Parts: sequence; structure tokens; C-alpha cells
Amino acid sequence: MADPNPAVLTAGEGPILAVETSCDDTSAAVMDESGSVLASVVHSQDVIHEKYGGVVPEVASRAHVERATVVVREALAEAELRPQDLGRVAVTVGPGLIGALLIGLNTAKAIAWAHRLPLVPVHHLHGHLAAVWLTEPQVAFPMVTLIASGGHTSLILVEDSRTFRLLGQTLDDAAGEAMDKGARLLGLGYPGGRELDALAEQGEPGGFQFPIGLARKGNLDFSFSGVKTAMYYLLREMDEAERRANRADIAAAYREAVVEALISKLLQAGQLTGVPTLAVAGGVAANSLLRRRLEHEGTTAGFEVVIPRLSYCTDNAAMIAAAARSGPLLPFPAYLALEAAASLALDADLNPNSEKAGL
Ligand code: KG4
Ligand code: ZN
Repeated sequence: MADPNPAVLTAGEGPILAVETSCDDTSAAVMDESGSVLASVVHSQDVIHEKYGGVVPEVASRAHVERATVVVREALAEAELRPQDLGRVAVTVGPGLIGALLIGLNTAKAIAWAHRLPLVPVHHLHGHLAAVWLTEPQVAFPMVTLIASGGHTSLILVEDSRTFRLLGQTLDDAAGEAMDKGARLLGLGYPGGRELDALAEQGEPGGFQFPIGLARKGNLDFSFSGVKTAMYYLLREMDEAERRANRADIAAAYREAVVEALISKLLQAGQLTGVPTLAVAGGVAANSLLRRRLEHEGTTAGFEVVIPRLSYCTDNAAMIAAAARSGPLLPFPAYLALEAAASLALDADLNPNSEKAGL
């Protein structure tokens, strides 16, 4: 087994400035050489996208343009550093909304180039995985991490801080997307996952039954399109008064079905691979039932469980800085050819000058 936290930064030592703009949050963070977060700034676009009921890519890109330099400046000020004090710049290069990614990439390139700094390209999911050892630096590798967000639902075997294997993923909707769509059917606000979670806390899940996709033992993929369709038909059969009277119970049963799929497959993946640690990351890791169940069932089954704090679960640049400590470090000015990619395999080679380049 490789060294779990390899100190790979032989060049460009010094604080990392990380930039993340893959979806609808503009974020920048500064991390020192020991891995401590000196600053983490996230400018959420929720209020902008709220009126559309979802993220509008063009609008997100424009908001990133307006905010990127302000957010970077704020992170540096919070860390009490000047750009010339930095050792390297890290940035998310994919996967994500291409227009949004390009704003972050070009911001990072410009800062790195202007100060003759090296640059580290980071895969967005590597960032989510790194939230686990950012939260718990002494965590035992290998681990299975569930990444559940608005765009992703994946089970990943994390052998060390830069070696990953995809064990399973959603074949249709992401878990967060299922939460958001269910919330919208119930007439809740945006972002829906959080609202549905709050409503479910007031209900009883027993009165309604929602399907759990791909429930067969040993199957580590997910499917959430059936649960949303079931909610649609259930609500269609009810009149307004019935819907209102049963809202909390329906939300509770719906949340239960989504969380059951996530937890049971995460536990199965842990048992099948024999890892000591189970972890969760991504916005859906904010779900109160998921957190309670994972803590309880994971520990009861003998696993070390890591649930990152909420600010490191949702998109943020601190997790990108943590991932960047595992490289690859591109020297000045080799990264000028670097491109962003809307879809990007987790094991893609992010060095544009390498023969196996995935970008
Ligand atoms: O990771 P994230 O901030 O953004 C990406 O999609 O990359 O995740 C956002 C997702 C949304 O679908 C949102 O509804 C969901 O996380 N979410 C929740 C909760 N808080 C946020 N889902 C369930 N329960 C929550 N408490
Ligand atoms: Zn994300």
C-alpha cells in the first residue's frame, strides 16, 4: 500500500491558493504547507438561481465572472497573505458546467502566470474525496467514500490520497437531484433537498412506500428515477387537502427511500472491499437522516466513519486545496495549455503535457 498522504510537493512549496467554480458556488481558499486551512470563502449563487428552480449555466458563468476576483481577494485577505507569498495555485478543471469551469481556470492561470507560480489541476470529485482527510487528517486508508451531490452519486474505493477506483454510480438521476425533484413536486422552496429534509423531520415514513432502485444485493449502482416518478403518481391521485395533510409523511417516506439506497450500498461496498473506513461527501451528506444512520450503522458494523462538516461537504475550494497536495504540479508556464472538461474520468491524467493526457 502506498503512503496514504504522500508529500509530493517537491517544487513550489508554500501556501496553496485554490479556486473552485464548477457549478454555482464561486469559491477560493488558502491552505498552508501543513494542510491547515487559512481561509475558505464561498459565494453561493442560491439567491440567483432560486427563481428558476435550478442552476442556469449561462447565469452561473456570468455570476462567476463578477465574483471570482473578489472572492480570491477576500480569501487572501482572510489568510493575511499577498499573491507573492503563495507557493502554487490549484484549480478545478472538471467535471462541471463548462462555462463555469472556464472562469475559475482562467482566473487561476492568470494569477499563477502573473506571479510565475506552478499550477495544480484538480478533478472535482478528487476534491470531494479530499474533504474526508481535510476533516480527519489521521483517517485510516483505504476507505469507501460515497459522493452524493446534485450532479453525482458515486461509490469510490479510495486506496490512498490519489488512487481511486469507481465501485458504482447512479445510472440516471443523482441523489441530490432526486431530493430536489421530490421537493419541487411537494411545492417546497429552493434548494429543495434541504427543505425536504426539514419537512421529513416532522413526518413519519411508515404510511407511504417508495421504490428503492437496483436493490439486489451486491449491485453497487444506483437508480433514482423510479422514486421521483412514484412521488409524481402518488401526488396526482390526491386532492389538495390530502396532499397538504400528508406532506410531512410523504417527505419522510421519500427521504427514507433515497437514504436507504445510499446507506445500504455504502455499507455493502465497505463489506465487499474490507476497508476500515466509510465516509460521505457532497451536498446530500448534509441530510440529517443520512448522517444519523451512517454514524449509527457504520460504527455498529465496525467501521471508522467520517462525515465532513457541512461547509466541506458542499462545493468549496478548501477541499480542492486538500486534493491539490497530491499533485500533479505543473511548472510555470506549462499549464497555459490546460483546458477544462465538462466530463472527466476520475483517473484521467490532468497533465496536458503528458502523453496520456486526459484533458
Ligand atoms: O455538493 P453540492 O453543494 O453541489 C453539487 O451538486 O455539486 O450539492 C447540492 C445538492 C442539492 O441537490 C441539494 O438539494 C442537496 O445537495 N442537499 C441536500 C441537503 N442539503 C443539500 N439533500 C438532502 N438533504 C439535505 N439536508
Ligand atoms: Zn460538487
